[in-house]
Amino acid sequence: MPRLAYDEIENASIDEIRTLQAARLKESLHHAYANSAAYRKKFDAHNVHPDDFRSLEDLSKFPFTTKADLRDNYPFGMFCAPMEEISRIHASSGTTGRPTVVGYTKRDIDNWANLVARSIFAAGGRAGDRVHIAYGYGLFTGGLGAHYGAERLGCTVIPMSGGQTEKQVQLIQDFDPDIIMVTPSYMLNIGDEMRRQGVDPSQLALRIGIFGAEPWTDSMRKELESNLHIDAVDIYGLSEIMGPGVAQECVETKDGPTVWEDHFYPEIIDPQSGEVLPDGEKGELVFTTLTKQGLPMIRYRTRDLTRLLPGSARSMRRIEKITGRSDDMLIIRGVNVFPTQIEEQILAVKGLSPHYLMEIEKQAHLDSVTIMVERVQGSNANIDGLAAELQTKIKSLVGISVTVEVKEVGKLPRSEGKARHVIDKRNTH
Ligand code: DLL
Repeated sequence: MPRLAYDEIENASIDEIRTLQAARLKESLHHAYANSAAYRKKFDAHNVHPDDFRSLEDLSKFPFTTKADLRDNYPFGMFCAPMEEISRIHASSGTTGRPTVVGYTKRDIDNWANLVARSIFAAGGRAGDRVHIAYGYGLFTGGLGAHYGAERLGCTVIPMSGGQTEKQVQLIQDFDPDIIMVTPSYMLNIGDEMRRQGVDPSQLALRIGIFGAEPWTDSMRKELESNLHIDAVDIYGLSEIMGPGVAQECVETKDGPTVWEDHFYPEIIDPQSGEVLPDGEKGELVFTTLTKQGLPMIRYRTRDLTRLLPGSARSMRRIEKITGRSDDMLIIRGVNVFPTQIEEQILAVKGLSPHYLMEIEKQAHLDSVTIMVERVQGSNANIDGLAAELQTKIKSLVGISVTVEVKEVGKLPRSEGKARHVIDKRNTH
């Protein structure tokens, strides 16, 4: 019989998974408390001790960890293993201030490789596949995280990294990979370059795209799948918790990433009150690591907004595809707007391509929004007509009035990693 999953645990019973989680949570809480002054201080201030954890419900007694905790203990203050046992450092740059630094022991790296191998398998990849990795290598977890996982699965890895878009296309043609791992926005850019070079994606071996590191919509999935003749699946992760491979969408269902619950315990909380919400309700995603040695994270607030859904292709729970984080939410004349809502409307207008930029300014005390977008290559659709159509859709479906500027192909900046879609010039933000 063909293997249904990479690891047996993926289809263990819910009871089995909960029992494992409770045992591992207890160990993680003890590990953090015993080995980090920062955690000890936080737990003590909260009047809670790892011995108070007896069952999964007790987790809510423990304090949250935030990015600020990592920044306050910059660079290595929250590590829970001696420095000589830390075999790798990564860091996420963030937009302002100090980077967030994370550290891994050999065992952490080994678990990570395994979870990414599991993720690629769930995406439909198999040993022997060729994997082109266009996530950035370096301090960012994308490149090296994907790399170790693809090697672990037994794939042939092409460690291209981000950038050099022309060369990306040339090597995709020459090496004919089966799988590409890249941010969805950079994939769009690579797809445009293919068209420019006259490469026909249907003639390539490429069959799977494993896209993540930034929010993207189901409309974007359809666009990428039909343009590139591939299955497009979602990989989720964050450096504080591990990197790519915290959760992965299964190709057979494409219904939101499955959380690898044997290594990460997810909770959804009300972002205002911090109260834990039941499965199915939307809120902020919080993770506790269950096996990490170098940098265990206890109730880390991700700022990502989603809900927990029951397992489908695997018994472990899924998260609904993440289309925004609380930091991305824009308040425009009182209306809450996520950039992905704009992306969705752009993709609904035939003749517009999904490269876009949103510029927000204050004009006479009012927020004014300009959406800059490109007409698709070769389209002769009327520019004013396209602008009017998008404007109407955004007004009626997102609820804000915007000005739309439709530009010719190649006029907007292209992403080579995580896309930047918003320029907010209001000084209040
Ligand atoms: O982006 C890790 C990663 C690399 C994931 C490659 C997937 C692929 P950070 O730079 O720490 O780590 O950024 C983490 O990116 O909290 C989300 O807001 C966002 N993010 C990551 N994956 C997804 C996704 C990497 N699939 C932050 N959908 C997270 C939506 C995502 N947002």
